Amino acid sequence: MQNFKTIAALRAFQKSCKDKSETLALVPTMGALHDGHLSLVKLAQQKADHVIVSIFVNPTQFAPHEDFDAYPRVEDADAAKLAPLGIAGLFTPRVAEMYPEGFACNLSITSALTNCLCGAARPSHFDGVAIIVSKLLLQSRADIAVFGEKDWQQLQVIRRVNADLNIDCEIIGAPICRDGESGLALSSRNAYLSDAERKSAGQLNVILAAFAGDIRAGRDIDAAQSEAKDKISAAGFGQIDYLECRTAQSLERVTIFNPKQACRVFVAAKIGSARLIDNMAV
Ligand code: PAF
Repeated sequence: MQNFKTIAALRAFQKSCKDKSETLALVPTMGALHDGHLSLVKLAQQKADHVIVSIFVNPTQFAPHEDFDAYPRVEDADAAKLAPLGIAGLFTPRVAEMYPEGFACNLSITSALTNCLCGAARPSHFDGVAIIVSKLLLQSRADIAVFGEKDWQQLQVIRRVNADLNIDCEIIGAPICRDGESGLALSSRNAYLSDAERKSAGQLNVILAAFAGDIRAGRDIDAAQSEAKDKISAAGFGQIDYLECRTAQSLERVTIFNPKQACRVFVAAKIGSARLIDNMAV
């Protein structure tokens, strides 16, 4: 497993793949890898001849008050988790490689996809995601890239950016990986949870599934939402950024359930210092 630190080295590897007519998949991550990330890598391996995992904690997608400094950085442990999978390499650029002095480009994504859910709670977050993911896709010239469906809204935003900028990479979504016992969606931010918080956090997906079930059963969505919010608070969560039902692709608010229209329920809530998100199909 090679460790590419520069865009030039990454591009040289991509060129060697292309010269042999072999395909390349990129799995972009911010590190602190867990089984969810490893499932993205395994999916990527089924889809392409070679897989590169990028590890870069991207400063532009964090607001000044957010957890950029605290975000876990464990590159050696990450490399040890990836080594047995037999991937081609890691891409671990420093900040100066991605945002060299004088960097002056912004990518602003403003649409119905970004003015809701995490986009409303974290203004400018998706601009930061859009610029870094565009850069990673263009730098690697990957044929495909795999992203987790836990960040469902991010996945829709990335599809939009990829299409709008004609980046020509196939974007693949991978199912959410959950803790076998509690069903808690795996996330690098679960590392912030104490044992007691982790126990409470395990209830989030159960409450979300019940909310989805209520909607499917034809219950009034507002009433089901308010009941589910009460349950989330009772489980020990603090601020609930959102708990909503939206259409799966365009992320429009659903007020009356139509079984013919694919929709999902979405939640973001804080417990201790961790902000957890989850989503599932109705
Ligand atoms: O989902 C993440 O880990 C990040 O948002 C991503 C896509 C790697 C961009 O920094």
